[in-house]
Amino acid sequence: MKKTAIANQKGGVGKTATVLGLCSAATALGHRILAVDLDPQGNLTRGLGVDASQLGDDTATANELLLELQEGTALDAAVATPWPGIDVIPATLDLANRDLDGANDVIFRLRAAFEGCDLSAYDAVLFDCPPSVGRLLVGALVAADQVIYVTEASIDSLGGIKNVQDTTSFVKKRVNPAIEIAGIVITKRENNGEEEFREAEIRDAYGELVAKTVIPKRAAWKDANGLATPIHSMRGSAGARALSTAFTDLFLELPITEPVTAGR
Ligand SMILES: Nc1ncnc2c1ncn2[C@@H]1O[C@H](COP(=O)(O)OP(=O)(O)OP(=O)(O)O)[C@@H](O)[C@H]1O
Ligand SMILES: [Mg+2]
Repeated sequence: MKKTAIANQKGGVGKTATVLGLCSAATALGHRILAVDLDPQGNLTRGLGVDASQLGDDTATANELLLELQEGTALDAAVATPWPGIDVIPATLDLANRDLDGANDVIFRLRAAFEGCDLSAYDAVLFDCPPSVGRLLVGALVAADQVIYVTEASIDSLGGIKNVQDTTSFVKKRVNPAIEIAGIVITKRENNGEEEFREAEIRDAYGELVAKTVIPKRAAWKDANGLATPIHSMRGSAGARALSTAFTDLFLELPITEPVTAGR
């Protein structure tokens, strides 16, 4: 099945929240996801209820997976999370060393790790990318079948999308011709005239590529994230319900569970 990178080199735009929200929708719908934390901050790992410091010494994390070029090792680093159907390849701070790793093959290691892996236990593989244009982001784009950009509706949105698009174009031209841009997701959307204007600006520029589903900014997100709980199980508040509905719609709208076509 497809490996999808969730990316934007701009920080704090909701990349990790999008991966978590899609994982939450997957648990609610009975789908299985392999979530790959490629950010040394480890926010995805923690958000899925996995404490990387409590993993046994012999448990591999994303850093071990990327220490050298090895084929077919990805699933050795996958651990079950408390979220039904969701496994994670966890990240720890030492993953930052891979962004500084000067070896020529660093950007090929994630792709190699997935080569020949039997991923039939999953319906989707999602890469949570870090907010920088380094080897970790490029390596994710080299390994991915498709990329989805996440953005807020702000004055900086178009510039941010343009930057990550340039990085994608570079990777597509030089290394991974098969990668496709599968969508743009607007997150943390507040109900005001400025954000309405910025959303229209993004839709004008990118048309059909922009997901119809928009993720609203709601306080319930931080409550769920603080508890490392799927937003779909926080049924109490109107905010949690709005976020659950939005992430279910997004999960059904984005092509993340589609099979890979054309010889990959
Ligand atoms: N829908 C939402 N409603 C309210 N707060 C949100 C929502 N989505 C994300 N946030 C908050 O916004 C902040 C940034 O979100 P998130 O960590 O997902 O962004 P990111 O792009 O992954 O950041 P980084 O670039 O650091 O990896 C976090 O504090 C998160 O809890
Ligand atoms: Mg993040």
